[in-house]
Amino acid sequence: MNVADSEEMAMHLMSCGHTETGDMKSADIILVNTCSVREHPENSALSFLGRIKPLKRKNPELKVIFAGCVAQRLKDVIKKRFPAVDLVIGAKDIGKFPEIIGRELANWRIGELASSKALPIRQSSSSPIHDVSSFVTITRGCENFCSYCIVPYVRGREFSLPASGIVNEIKILAGKGVKEVTLLGQNVNSYIDGSGLAVRSSEKRQSSKALDFADLLSEVNKIEGIERIRFISSHPKDFSDKLIDAVAGLQKVCEHVHLPIQSGSDRILAAMNRKYGVAKYMSIVEKLRNKVKDISITSDILVGFPGETEADFKNTLDAVKQAGFDSLFAFKYSPRPGTLAASLKDNVPLETKESRLQRVLHAANTVAMNTNAKLAGTLQEVLIDAREDDGHSGRTRTNKKVFLKNARLSLGSTVTARIVGTKISTLIGETAEGLCGI
Ligand code: 5AD
Ligand code: SF4
Repeated sequence: MNVADSEEMAMHLMSCGHTETGDMKSADIILVNTCSVREHPENSALSFLGRIKPLKRKNPELKVIFAGCVAQRLKDVIKKRFPAVDLVIGAKDIGKFPEIIGRELANWRIGELASSKALPIRQSSSSPIHDVSSFVTITRGCENFCSYCIVPYVRGREFSLPASGIVNEIKILAGKGVKEVTLLGQNVNSYIDGSGLAVRSSEKRQSSKALDFADLLSEVNKIEGIERIRFISSHPKDFSDKLIDAVAGLQKVCEHVHLPIQSGSDRILAAMNRKYGVAKYMSIVEKLRNKVKDISITSDILVGFPGETEADFKNTLDAVKQAGFDSLFAFKYSPRPGTLAASLKDNVPLETKESRLQRVLHAANTVAMNTNAKLAGTLQEVLIDAREDDGHSGRTRTNKKVFLKNARLSLGSTVTARIVGTKISTLIGETAEGLCGI
């Protein structure tokens, strides 16, 4: 989400005539976008501001914009604590970036935004930074209030962007040569068309005519030029059978679902306010595996939530093996101010969190290595999206990165590759003349 927001803001600055510089020292504007989901990225963002200070001393004309979730959380104190910051744009205001920046650019006299001043960010930023694959935000905010999570506080209530605008945006992207879109939101599968800012999505959900997420996928599936559709993130509580059928039946929707489980203990899931148990989660996994051939399932896990015992954690290890995740993002719990869990005693010692993190990653890596090993010798459809030192890389429909030595491939092309090597998170492939161009 933050990567997508950063790209949208950067593209907007580019549409005002600015260009990206690889060298921070030569910049007129430094835009720092920030994440506060855990303590660590928040601290990184703040220490980055410390590194900007000498640049500002050397070049007093330099403008520093501090945006995103940390900006939202600390907006009253940032300028006092970090005088080098010129403008603070909280995560809730990122949608108004063009308006806010238009005003400031005029004040700063470093390029003024004329024509697109009043345009909302989505319409003003329809040119992708990446040519092959693009993020498309479909919902903003979150109102699930998982007890450990700061997102609902810094990003605000959930609302869905209008389906017509999303479809138009993707048509524009397709016209510019984009082959793959990733529909983005904190919880994409609670998407309901029309649940704009003014109306709470849960109220709107009662209207039976509104397009839901599965319907939106089906609309996007019709767009010519788009070859692959992905989405992140999904919440198990909203993963309906209709959505499973859409993933199974819509040709362009890739065989990959990122479905955060967070814990394998029902007791901890309840304390996290996740609104599902392990059995429900595993039933979704089973249905997906039955209906979608060779689907890959990836997940997030948080270790060391307050009160997590060794027995709870062992259930998490079991869940990783049972679900057979293709890849896993695992994190040590850190209390976030204002959340419900922050009022609980953070009673799992740091060393225990660290060792659980290593243990869960080890379990996940073993599963992933075994799953990938089975791909050796198979043919995979690879969308080429990057140049590498000695060839190219791309992704399978199941979102696995494949390295290909072939130097004659072009970005955005789809090739058939034979898998000749497998690792924990990447594959090595070979293309042959006869295999190219499926
Ligand atoms: N501490 C650690 N990890 C967290 N996440 C969310 N909040 C916290 C927290 N307070 C993790 C969850 C989520 C991912 C994006 O970040 O696993 O899925
Ligand atoms: Fe946070 Fe839960 Fe919302 Fe995800 S669904 S952003 S974990 S509150």
